[in-house]
Amino acid sequence: MAGFSNYFFALAVLLSLVSTFISDSSQQPLHSSQDSKFLNLTVVHRESAYSSIAREKKLSLEQILKHDTVRFNIFDRFISGASKNGTIEGSLAVSIPAYFGSLFDTNNFVVTIGLGTPKKDFTVMFDTGSDLSWIPCSTCRECEAPKKLLFDPTESSTYSSIRCNSDECSQAQDSSSCSTESNTCRFAISYADGTITEGSIIRDTLTLAPFDVLPNFVFGCSDYYSMKHRAVGLIGLSREKVSLFSQVSQKYGEVFSYCIPSSLSSTGYLAFGRLALPPHIKYTPMLTMPPVVGLLYFVRLAGSKTLPLPPTVFSRTATAIDSGGVITRLPPLAYNALRSEFQKHMTEYTLMPHKFVVDTCYDMSGHKNLNVPTVELLFDGGASLSLDFDGTMIMADDQMGCLAFTATDDMHGGVSIIGNTQQKKYTVVYDVTNGKVGFGSGGCA
Ligand SMILES: *[C@@H]1O[C@H](CO)[C@@H](O)[C@H](O)[C@H]1NC(C)=O
Ligand SMILES: *[C@@H]1O[C@H](CO)[C@@H](O)[C@H](O)[C@H]1NC(C)=O
Repeated sequence: MAGFSNYFFALAVLLSLVSTFISDSSQQPLHSSQDSKFLNLTVVHRESAYSSIAREKKLSLEQILKHDTVRFNIFDRFISGASKNGTIEGSLAVSIPAYFGSLFDTNNFVVTIGLGTPKKDFTVMFDTGSDLSWIPCSTCRECEAPKKLLFDPTESSTYSSIRCNSDECSQAQDSSSCSTESNTCRFAISYADGTITEGSIIRDTLTLAPFDVLPNFVFGCSDYYSMKHRAVGLIGLSREKVSLFSQVSQKYGEVFSYCIPSSLSSTGYLAFGRLALPPHIKYTPMLTMPPVVGLLYFVRLAGSKTLPLPPTVFSRTATAIDSGGVITRLPPLAYNALRSEFQKHMTEYTLMPHKFVVDTCYDMSGHKNLNVPTVELLFDGGASLSLDFDGTMIMADDQMGCLAFTATDDMHGGVSIIGNTQQKKYTVVYDVTNGKVGFGSGGCA
């Protein structure tokens, strides 16, 4: 992979671990050894010079936000569908497909992993809102990717297929199936815009760092991909048992963290394990929404110190913190109050007519120092995100910058989203063991 060292590996503690992924709940995590281990992968922007999967043509802000809205609508539909049949904490009312994904094109941050024996490196997106990891395979009919970006299981000595009647396969409900002629497990992930990817679910060795090898990693080997751009794999970080996070948690514990870089020239990281956590993290409770327990990570916004908002403004909606969402989506009351306060402090810039889902855009050309007011997102328990320019604005081009927030459709009390623009440069911690989400400033540049 293009001359860039993708791994920062610190503790070469090797543990031979027979993985009992997915269905074997009798196997307890190995707590004593987890505490001394962590793993640190480099995160770069997909379009950065360090990435081997940069697009030939960058997406426009309008395209990115269109995809982001599709992604949001998928989550919103699931969650509001669930909450309409009672309270949000209510009964199991929606059927979540076994393999849930969101639109890839918003997941602009990538890491490199190794698959197979001998190991082959792949640059993949990571997503807290996806469960099954998958990679485009050499059998892919329409992936439109050069061969070096495709995984060929027949070249790997450690690959094995998964039978239809296995526990791994029975995890799969409506969205997966069985190939009866070969008796192998299949998956399909479909997206709101009609695109789909499908393939076989297989096992092979996952190498996350030079001495860090996990045998029998379960993932999807995609042989069909209907999107008309270069296929790129993805690792899922949801709490569902099939996700990469759940599979590596036997080794590192149920905690991961990341930092999303603010520019194409800077790097962030994705780390697993408690030892990777920096000091000075402030936490907010991680909430559990029974209908969608493993799918997304939920937190609660705590209202505002400065905006005139009723205390109940955030209590009707679930708020998800999402690595793959781009902008932050707030209930209309909160967004409208934020927007009018923001505009009061932006009088030195010319407000532009809006075109996108973001409606507060300014002409910023000819300004040497870009000054925007600090926006602070407060969470229950005292955690907060204090947003500077990088966390507040999204650039449409060299000249036009837009407030990277919008309003949700509040008709049904669906979901609010904390997007990755707002998470930039912070260490974001997902501590599932202790049921909390944390933020630490200065995580990366
Ligand atoms: C509620 O549950 C029923 C079945 O129990 C289902 O048909 C319906 O789609 C669910 N959602 C809503 C909004 O009623
Ligand atoms: C992980 O790597 C980043 C650099 O990419 C570094 O800043 C950070 O301190 C590392 N974390 C640990 C725990 O080593």
